[in-house]
Amino acid sequence: MTRVAFVTGAASGIGAASARLLARDGFFVYLADIQVDAGQALAAELGEAAFLPLDVRHEDQFEAALGEVMQRHGRLDCLANNAAIVGVLGPIATLPLEQYDLSHSIIQRSVVIGTKHAARIMQPQGSGAIVNIASVAGLTGGFSPHVYAACKAAVVNFTESVALELAEDGIRVNAICPGNVATPIHTGVTDERWKARLEKIRAAAVDDQPIPRMGEPEEIAEAVAWLASDKASYVTGHALVVDGGLMAGRLWRKQPSFFKEYHPARG
Ligand SMILES: NC(=O)c1ccc[n+]([C@@H]2O[C@H](COP(=O)([O-])OP(=O)(O)OC[C@H]3O[C@@H](n4cnc5c(N)ncnc54)[C@H](O)[C@@H]3O)[C@@H](O)[C@H]2O)c1
Repeated sequence: MTRVAFVTGAASGIGAASARLLARDGFFVYLADIQVDAGQALAAELGEAAFLPLDVRHEDQFEAALGEVMQRHGRLDCLANNAAIVGVLGPIATLPLEQYDLSHSIIQRSVVIGTKHAARIMQPQGSGAIVNIASVAGLTGGFSPHVYAACKAAVVNFTESVALELAEDGIRVNAICPGNVATPIHTGVTDERWKARLEKIRAAAVDDQPIPRMGEPEEIAEAVAWLASDKASYVTGHALVVDGGLMAGRLWRKQPSFFKEYHPARG
């Protein structure tokens, strides 16, 4: 039996890396994205994969895409709700509400839609794994614009809430909270210019992190692959932080010196 995975936002970054690793692990992978050329090219490269155009804002499109999966394969073992944008930027006093709605529909509402339609398939199947890509920005302030942070916090709580319901059906629902990962999302462009733009951001990340570098998409994708697999069979309702230590606390070199200098064993 071929296991089947469906990854949103699979044409780029963490979604593309997740599609690769799920294919490595034996899944037939459906790559869904609004970036058609890049998505098709990756699906062709992976072989045991297919691209489906999908704008995650639209429930009818999501339902149709998962309907196609069911027509072709008759099962869905993993849904990775990964697609997102940074969304509306700037101070709260000037926040344009139409951009709030756009941000919310892509970053958070899409996760609700995807989970809803995956549950309809996975419940009668009696199995499945849903992996929602949240962010460290959803765990505390200061890592993103306001609305992105709020939407990602909602993704974490939604994950916990739905995990409780779907555990009774044999379905695991987890989230991943990446830290700073080297993808185009930081750069405002999707074409090749993103790599040059990212270099400035990389330099800043080095200063701020216990592990002094940005993460690579594959380092998040390994967590997706693990949560999708039976190796994580006892894990549900969890938000797994993969962030190079960012959320662990203040850098050792920035902690007060008396934390470090008192060595009772040395007298
Ligand atoms: N890169 C980071 O530092 C970081 C940190 C924390 C969380 N995340 C999260 O990881 C996930 C993947 O982001 P990434 O960093 O790989 O960014 P990315 O820009 O490389 O990939 C995002 C993908 O989502 C797609 N997408 C955007 N809007 C869409 C829509 N309406 N419908 C369908 N697809 C759409 C894009 O086309 C793109 O392929 C996102 O949920 C993001 O919030 C990223």
